Amino acid sequence: MSAGEQLAAFRSQDGQAYVVDAYCPHLGANLSAGGRVVGNCIECPFHGWQFQGEDGKCTHIPYAGKVPEFARVRTWPSCEVNGMLLLWYHCEGISPTWAVPEQREIVTGEWVFRGQTEHFIDAHIQEIPENAADSAHLAFLHGPGILGGSDLRYTRSKLWDFMKHIWKAEWWPELEPNEHCSRLLVQHSATVFGKHVSLMDLTVSVRQVGPGLVFLIFEHAFLGHGIILQTVTPLEPLLQNVVHKIYYQKNIPAIIPKFILRAECIQFERDMTIWNNKQYLPKPLLVREDSSIQKHRRWYAQFYSEKSMRLPVQEGLDW
Ligand code: FES
Ligand SMILES: [Fe+2]
Repeated sequence: MSAGEQLAAFRSQDGQAYVVDAYCPHLGANLSAGGRVVGNCIECPFHGWQFQGEDGKCTHIPYAGKVPEFARVRTWPSCEVNGMLLLWYHCEGISPTWAVPEQREIVTGEWVFRGQTEHFIDAHIQEIPENAADSAHLAFLHGPGILGGSDLRYTRSKLWDFMKHIWKAEWWPELEPNEHCSRLLVQHSATVFGKHVSLMDLTVSVRQVGPGLVFLIFEHAFLGHGIILQTVTPLEPLLQNVVHKIYYQKNIPAIIPKFILRAECIQFERDMTIWNNKQYLPKPLLVREDSSIQKHRRWYAQFYSEKSMRLPVQEGLDW
């Protein structure tokens, strides 16, 4: 399921991946529960109708002499990039207006897959990317050492006080023709008993491409380079599925990227407690230092259109 739609994804025998509506237009069986690939079609498990991945047209009904011209299942624009199958969703049905860039090092095999995580978050999709422009929360929420974990009752405990993260971050939107992208540059360092530990120095160059895909490129001073690909997929209006996949330099022991992914997730899960419990404020009370949050909201507004689903207003409701 994605964006409230039930979908079926399949790879035809010639290797091309397709996404179609999961429910068969014949009698509504779910193509993704027992369906089978036949050539470049998907075959419904109920009565065996076959639908082409390319245009959704029904090409075969095992017990009928003629296939009606109008028999087809809806198809969705998708692409396979960097080991992911990505789906384009537009409320007005407009075709893709930009493409997802390939990460050269993943394509060449220089960087290899070293693990992934999956989280479900009860929040509006916009809360998650907005974090990138919220530099003030870095020191407060993400400052306490990761040894303190992600349970916000204990992260500030004296026990873990000896370790701290120091963040420097800057967010900005890209210009035409890449106005659907934005950047975040993060410099991370850490101190233990007040002393700088260079082993933890990390530069993260983040690029958000569209509303739900983020490339986080990690550069460690002497422990190699790699990337975390983050996808935020709305399942329902206030339920997001977030996947982090890490690819890292092949010649670096897997323990390094696994540690980076673990550390990223401890920090991410701190944000999750905030997101899972917060309210979206259309008019937040901001100070001058928070100005990039407003810039981010203006940037993100481009991903809504006329028919975008609107949530009931959360403020000003009288009993
Ligand atoms: S429901 Fe799919 S073939 Fe009948
Ligand atoms: Fe955060």
